[in-house]
Amino acid sequence: SQKNRLIIVSNRLPIVLSKDNKGRWQAEQGSGGLITALAPVLKNRGGLWIGWPGTSRAHDKKALESVFTRAAGDFGYTFEPVFLPESLVNAYYFGFSNQVLWPLFHDLQTRCDFSPDYWNAYQKVNEIFARTIAQNIKSQDDHIWVHDYHLMGVGQALRKLHATAKIGYFLHIPFPPLDIFLKLPWRFQILESLLCYDMIGFQTQRDRRNFVQCVHAMLNHIRIKGRGQVLSTQVNGRMVRVGNFPISIDYNEFAKKAGTRAVEKRVDEIRAVFPSDHLILGVDRLDYSKGIPERLLAFRNALQRYPELEKKISMVQIVVPSRQRIPEYENLKHEIEQLISEINGTFTRPGWVPIHYLYQGVDRTELTALYRAADIALVTPLKDGMNLVAKEYCASNIHLDGVLILSEFAGASSQLYKHALLVNPHDIEGIADAINQACHMGLDERKKRMRALRKIVKKTDIYWWVDTFLKAVFSHDLDTLGPL
Ligand code: UDP
Ligand code: G6P
Repeated sequence: SQKNRLIIVSNRLPIVLSKDNKGRWQAEQGSGGLITALAPVLKNRGGLWIGWPGTSRAHDKKALESVFTRAAGDFGYTFEPVFLPESLVNAYYFGFSNQVLWPLFHDLQTRCDFSPDYWNAYQKVNEIFARTIAQNIKSQDDHIWVHDYHLMGVGQALRKLHATAKIGYFLHIPFPPLDIFLKLPWRFQILESLLCYDMIGFQTQRDRRNFVQCVHAMLNHIRIKGRGQVLSTQVNGRMVRVGNFPISIDYNEFAKKAGTRAVEKRVDEIRAVFPSDHLILGVDRLDYSKGIPERLLAFRNALQRYPELEKKISMVQIVVPSRQRIPEYENLKHEIEQLISEINGTFTRPGWVPIHYLYQGVDRTELTALYRAADIALVTPLKDGMNLVAKEYCASNIHLDGVLILSEFAGASSQLYKHALLVNPHDIEGIADAINQACHMGLDERKKRMRALRKIVKKTDIYWWVDTFLKAVFSHDLDTLGPL
């Protein structure tokens, strides 16, 4: 498959445009798991990335061309920006994608806003994306791969444009159980548009099972057959496959980076700033699905119930700004900040502040140094498609002495459940107990667990994921797929 041109399509390009204070365009690396996972793939094999540049202020397209040409030179693959007017971005991105699909698919239906206008904009933007793809297909052998919940209707729109190329689709977020999916006013349209792809990929078996159950219950003329990692069905005479493929990271890149001089130096500096015995790390986009308030309550609970941990544990919580214009996100920020100041107000002692909070993104060197320096990673989303922070922590933990505390509702737990300390993210005392357990775990056990975790992440890294998915979509020989 290496010779076929790969066309990645996602809502967001890996570089996001913004204007600096002198009004000049600048390109920044976007945040989030989708970009971390896919950027090294295109860098490695070249190709084209089609996506929204993250701004609606891009009227001067000429000026932007040079930004993208320069980036193509730096990155080793090309970009095709999809420009969207602000009104559409509001209803499609902030509206349907992030106030309908995102909360619903994370089982948080009370946070949904089912405005009909959002749905219309969503369809319109999916058609715009489909037209851009159609214009960029050079050969029937191009591998078109559409990503995530923003673009579920692109396959159907492409079929309407008579595109015959095979199209793969991957959902990075969870797929909800039937009872929750049924609440979506456009449930039939969404299900039917997904079935226009040649392959629908999910993160875990649980997501795939939920999807298959929805198809069985709602579209009873469709039968899905098979066993193992990839199932199949006939839809209008076309073969559609449904599989699960846990996404990953460039393991070697993180492991290598963790051993560099620059990271080593930062690790020493970080350790010097936090002389406490146990450094606990949380890294999340600002998102209510990440369970940040619950985690803070658990940290407080640990300090209350295990007073001997006073001055012995410190927590660093990084919150990367995200989707700021949505009120639910803005409120969450206040909630987090209030909790942190309450906890610090209560527990701070001379020379010891329990929680260090950063509301900002950090660069890769700093992030890797924090992963390496942290004795415990606290990854406790209420629900998460995969959660790459968990995998990055393991890959960066080259001394094998860290402990991963992981939510059972993160997709990553389907692979890492045996060797992480699994917690229910709603169980405040349970998380507090896990923190205490991690603080007391002997070096032998920590090493044994971390070695096993790293082995899994290394074996199923991002290149494994791409190969497995592409093989399942574009090669007819399903037997080449080994068991997971
Ligand atoms: N990350 C980032 N900027 C930062 C800190 C972290 O882009 O300042 C990355 C992190 O390395 C990880 C991703 O954001 O790859 C978060 O992915 P995850 O799957 O954990 O959650 P998502 O944000 O996609 O929901
Ligand atoms: C999650 C989604 C991605 C998204 C990322 C960041 O990982 O699955 O599709 O890009 O969050 O969110 P944003 O809204 O800033 O693109």
